[in-house]
Amino acid sequence: MCSAAIYGTGAYVPHKTLTNEDFSRTLDTTDEWITTRTGIKERRIAAPDQATSDLCLHAARAALKDAGIAPRDLDLIIVGTITPDYPTPSTACILQQKLGLGDKTIPCFDLSAACSGFIYALTTASAYITAGLAARVLVVGSEATSRIVDYSDRRTCILFGDGAGAAVLGPPRTDGPSHKVLSTRLYADGNHAGLISIPAGGSARPASRETCDSKLHYIRLNGREVFRFGVIKVVEMIKDAMARHNLMPADVGAIIPHQANMRIIEAAVERLALPWDLFIINLQRYGNTSSASVPLALDEASRAGRLVKGKPVIMLAFGGGMTWASAVVEW
Ligand code: UT7
Repeated sequence: MCSAAIYGTGAYVPHKTLTNEDFSRTLDTTDEWITTRTGIKERRIAAPDQATSDLCLHAARAALKDAGIAPRDLDLIIVGTITPDYPTPSTACILQQKLGLGDKTIPCFDLSAACSGFIYALTTASAYITAGLAARVLVVGSEATSRIVDYSDRRTCILFGDGAGAAVLGPPRTDGPSHKVLSTRLYADGNHAGLISIPAGGSARPASRETCDSKLHYIRLNGREVFRFGVIKVVEMIKDAMARHNLMPADVGAIIPHQANMRIIEAAVERLALPWDLFIINLQRYGNTSSASVPLALDEASRAGRLVKGKPVIMLAFGGGMTWASAVVEW
């Protein structure tokens, strides 16, 4: 059995920026409220002709370039998303075609774990590699959240943004740099399925004039409960990741939390008494990009030289399902 490693990362955000000031012109909200309650200042919005697979494509190309891997060398593509281009075909199949690999017949599938989607996909890729079922895997977390957000609902629309992050994985390399996946943990609790949901558009409640009129195709969340859940899980997952690898704070290279709300991260930093500079945070610029949140921050941190060679990077996320997940990667 071999283990898995990250060869390279990539990310993409659309050009259009929506600021807190923009919201204050159309909604009963202020920059001050959004900033103090969430830490978010602006987010990116996909162009009308950009679907989730288009965001994937940019991030995937950047990750392949960073990894020094040709698209044709891939043998599996996994896309974590809750905003697929269509219910079917999968966004991963569309990405395969956009990468020019339509004739290669490699397996491609989407994975739905909301904001935990990238770490779920990274874990699945690692399992394929470890089992010898794949040697070069492209993993993408990509969302066009702007397509599921009700821009007249000030409680949700200020939170989300669009973007994509990607990684190429394979067995640890001898012919170039690679970052070994030391461990991952995946969790879910369907008892809390109602905390974050899109009530209609699926088989339980298919699209109809009535569901459209009632705006049931937009994301709804119980903000306070999700906030509480997030703080508990972020603290739990960081503690668990440090304990399973016997890490003291000085041993950790970086912590990449899900970029949902600055106050959730602040609460975790306070409870764990960890130094602020360990945390990679970009939510002020992108908001919550769901499954893209962790890989976007990972790629930015990697390119900015914030990840220390040989030191563990702890990634963690939580989201709809409810799902939560962590990964420890030796950089
Ligand atoms: O990826 C999934 C993870 N998602 C999350 O982590 C989201 C977690 N939750 C949160 O981030 C926070 O709960 C929110 C930012 C969504 C809300 O912050 P809060 O401090 O929990 O506010 P609240 O929902 O308790 O609302 C407080 C007040 C309410 O007014 P009343 O009922 O007290 O009069 C809201 O109507 O703030 C009001 N409010 C707003 N006011 C101005 C809600 N949204 C806004 C807004 N601008 N945008």
